[in-house]
Amino acid sequence: MKKDIAHLHTKKQQQQPITVLTCYDYPTACMQDEAGIDIIFVGDSVGTNILGYKSEMEVTMADMLHHLKAVHRGVTDAYLLVDMPYASDRNAKQAVANANLFLDNGADGVKLEGGTEKVPIITALTEQGIEVCAHIGHNPQIHGTKAATHGKTVSKAKELIQTASALADAGAKLIVLEKITEEISQIITDTLDIPTIGIGAGRFCDGQVLVINDVLGMGTLFKHAKRYQDYDHLTFEAICQYKQEVENGDFPTEANVDNIASDKFERVKKWLESER
Ligand code: KIV
Repeated sequence: MKKDIAHLHTKKQQQQPITVLTCYDYPTACMQDEAGIDIIFVGDSVGTNILGYKSEMEVTMADMLHHLKAVHRGVTDAYLLVDMPYASDRNAKQAVANANLFLDNGADGVKLEGGTEKVPIITALTEQGIEVCAHIGHNPQIHGTKAATHGKTVSKAKELIQTASALADAGAKLIVLEKITEEISQIITDTLDIPTIGIGAGRFCDGQVLVINDVLGMGTLFKHAKRYQDYDHLTFEAICQYKQEVENGDFPTEANVDNIASDKFERVKKWLESER
């Protein structure tokens, strides 16, 4: 059954945790969907995790569309969320046009980073019937890749709580809380009617999101994340074994080859001789 925004809101009301993972390609999307992940999220973290960019700021609309289309082909049930990349939502008109491009290519909703300066953009998108996920705390498009924890001072904590309410009032249907102290994330979660999705924001959000690379054990391990697999090690071992077997002549084996029927092969050989 396709999961829509109403389903995600019901999960919050029923205190059922919402599961979210980033996803950048078709085979991973198929597996996440089959596993029953609630929200499959094409994050702009595709830039640093897959495309080799130095920062999220290099990610373009074309990059996001390319990966969204691949992921969309693998999603049946999950809610498909996509990030508005850097500078794609500078004004309401541009944001609506770009968000509509994503919806036309399979997205169910769009996520955008920022604080109260994004109220007019969220209002405009919502007026067009576009479902928006807000994103506060650490915003890689604004703060860069080095993530500090937000909500450690009284003034910053108050600001986060007020910002979350303003974005929800503007029409946001979901909100990501990234690198926010657990206490402040819990207040935001208890205050808002919309689901909060935490990453490095403690245990009491309505849902959790992780970057799929971190879950699989690709690259650096961050404090907020957990490795459920050792992809780097397993992949490197597989590559080395393949290289060694090709070099040793152990791959391919008879089991990997196709043959021509012996009578036909004889005819080919005879023909070759006659050509010499
Ligand atoms: O792009 C991304 O991966 C994100 C998550 C950190 C929520 O925005």
